[in-house]
Amino acid sequence: MTFTQKLLIHGGAGTIPKELHKDYHRGAIEALKTGWEVMEHTSNSLSAVEASVQAMEDYPLFNAGYGSVMTEKGTIEMDALIVDGSNMRIGGLIGVSHVKNPISASKVILENLPHHLLFGLQAEEYLQTQGVELVPQETLITQRSRDRLTKYLVEKKSYGDYIEPSKDPERRGKYGTVGAVALDSQGRLSAATSTGGVLGKLPGRVGDTPLFGTGTYADDEIAVSATGIGEKIIEYVLAMKIKFYISQTQSAEVATKLALEEMKNKVEGYAGVIVMTKDFGFSAMKSTKDLVYAFKSQDGDTGDFLSEKK
Ligand code: GLY
Repeated sequence: MTFTQKLLIHGGAGTIPKELHKDYHRGAIEALKTGWEVMEHTSNSLSAVEASVQAMEDYPLFNAGYGSVMTEKGTIEMDALIVDGSNMRIGGLIGVSHVKNPISASKVILENLPHHLLFGLQAEEYLQTQGVELVPQETLITQRSRDRLTKYLVEKKSYGDYIEPSKDPERRGKYGTVGAVALDSQGRLSAATSTGGVLGKLPGRVGDTPLFGTGTYADDEIAVSATGIGEKIIEYVLAMKIKFYISQTQSAEVATKLALEEMKNKVEGYAGVIVMTKDFGFSAMKSTKDLVYAFKSQDGDTGDFLSEKK
């Protein structure tokens, strides 16, 4: 049986300032194009999601790779996970600071190790033995990231307390994690997510992105990549809930809508999520104000968040 190839990507949810919509759009469309070219050449969903996410890691506006948000100490700690749902191969990184493309480095783990996740300096040491070049942390920091941290630290002071992300999602503006899900002609589903985490986080904090079944998931039926405040996505186990609702409703769209609504009610959590299934369609939805996304299908179907608004 041959399947219609599909690729769906996201570049974060939250509130995106109007003046930046076009720049986010450009980044998303470029990443979709990059991933789609790989999909056409390889017919491999894992390679396609890696290529799209890598492109977004290199685009300074997204909160992943170059452009990652900073911890309260002015450092960068990135998380990523990539999953081949056809055979449950999983590779991910937690809290790395010197890896230019965490998603490709995660794929090195998926391909070479019996383990799924490595963290911090030990992860970087292992990656070096596999030929992954480490880069100075400064090369991953943009002026925008520095400015955002400065603003955050000033606001935090005037607020008189730590700004708990879950209580005040709009205060942090855009969340900005990036991700991709895809279905290839052989029916293989893959998912990839990469992030700098949340702005002003405590060093050592881990979000949902690398935790299988919460912000990233794929098996032989569905692939999911989420964006939003990781603590809430973990509390609700978002990807697993979407899988459950798909089994009940047989619709990616209905299931995603139900899960996002329930997440809001149960844990006061807001998110954006992309979902690809083999048999029950796909969806790109959010309970935040905005979600940057774009998709393409072999049957000619395309779409993105800016065209949707026209
Ligand atoms: N969703 C990304 C994070 O909270 O780290």
